[in-house]
Amino acid sequence: MIKVGIIGVGTVGTSVAQILKDNADVISARAGTDIVVKSGVVKNLNKDRGLDIVLTDNVDDILNDPEIDIVVELMGGVEEPFEVVKRALSSGKAVVTANKALLAYHRYELAELAKDIAFEYEASVAGGIPIINALRDGLSANHIESITGIMNGTSNYMMTKMTNDGVAYDDILKEAQDLGYAEADPTFDVGGFDAAHKLLILASIAYGIDAKPEDILIEGIDNVSQEDIQFAKEFGYAVKLLGIAKKDGNEVELRVHAALIKQEEMIAKIDGVMNAISVVGDKVGETLYYGPGAGGDATASAVVANIIDIARSGKSTPMLGFDRPMEGKALRLKPTANIESKYYLRINVSDKAGVLAKITKIFEENNISVETMLQRPATSDSANLLISTHIAVEKDIQNMIKELESLDFVNSTPVMIRIV
Ligand code: HSE
Repeated sequence: MIKVGIIGVGTVGTSVAQILKDNADVISARAGTDIVVKSGVVKNLNKDRGLDIVLTDNVDDILNDPEIDIVVELMGGVEEPFEVVKRALSSGKAVVTANKALLAYHRYELAELAKDIAFEYEASVAGGIPIINALRDGLSANHIESITGIMNGTSNYMMTKMTNDGVAYDDILKEAQDLGYAEADPTFDVGGFDAAHKLLILASIAYGIDAKPEDILIEGIDNVSQEDIQFAKEFGYAVKLLGIAKKDGNEVELRVHAALIKQEEMIAKIDGVMNAISVVGDKVGETLYYGPGAGGDATASAVVANIIDIARSGKSTPMLGFDRPMEGKALRLKPTANIESKYYLRINVSDKAGVLAKITKIFEENNISVETMLQRPATSDSANLLISTHIAVEKDIQNMIKELESLDFVNSTPVMIRIV
């Protein structure tokens, strides 16, 4: 029999205990042994969670319990769980976590500490979708060319509602929070940080890239307005918050931002709170993974799968899926300034003679070629210029935006969305 201790018995922790009980028949058959939750750590001992497990408010009761084989860390945060997980590993206990922020900062140290002790984290990326398993095991024969995904359900829900129902940004954020998918601090969702944590985890498995959130391009959906969405629709695009990892020679670009995607692309059709991740391997071609990226039972389904896997074998494959450099020449992170993309810009200008000519001159001076251009009246004396570009370099676009912003006939900071 395998005994589990859960640190953090909230929505996901409660579902983990419940699934282990409800599905004990298939779970014990698949694990080859019975699995029981011995105890759980909570902050508030007075709250009834409807579970028949021993609850404590002291992590030592789990970490020092020699009967507990697997510690499930569901506390949230970064440094506190890092200490807890290190203690669990140093006492030889296997660890399962759903904590993407912890891994975004400490995955390489944890891989080093874990060595042969099982450390699993399937639920940390895209909740119930077995994307870690797919990338680390199912696609392990491939060089990974790209990973492109909708990795945050809250922002996808918001984009979907803004597109389909014309709802304004502020109204829909509240609705998304009520659904229970949003992070405690929703800036993590709408600002792109949650998706970035997940992207960094996937990029480590695919490329061995050791980057922190601070090192990569992270933007959210907070500057996307109804006007942009209407433009997108008119020109056959959907707007999505994407996480992108792409190999280019010896460099890997990592970025999270709102993106215009052609409506016929599979990923453009993923609506609501669902997640989807496309992985392109050099041998397999494109594969697509779709499912619930959050929610108690969906996330717990991935946590329990890790517990079963550990119960079966007692150890995991190397935590990040490799234990020596994966490519002949180590891959490095592409500097953000060098990323190339097509861009969409919305520039609010004074509607008077000569403005368009001056704007297009600035495009030319920054090596940026216009693909489509539309002018829409905004007020009686201002207009929005809606422009899409051919492929351009990030630093040129950023310089041009700064230049445009400083002009007296440009009324506000231009809005930019990358076209993928
Ligand atoms: N806040 C996240 C989301 C939850 O909306 O996708 C899962 O990590």
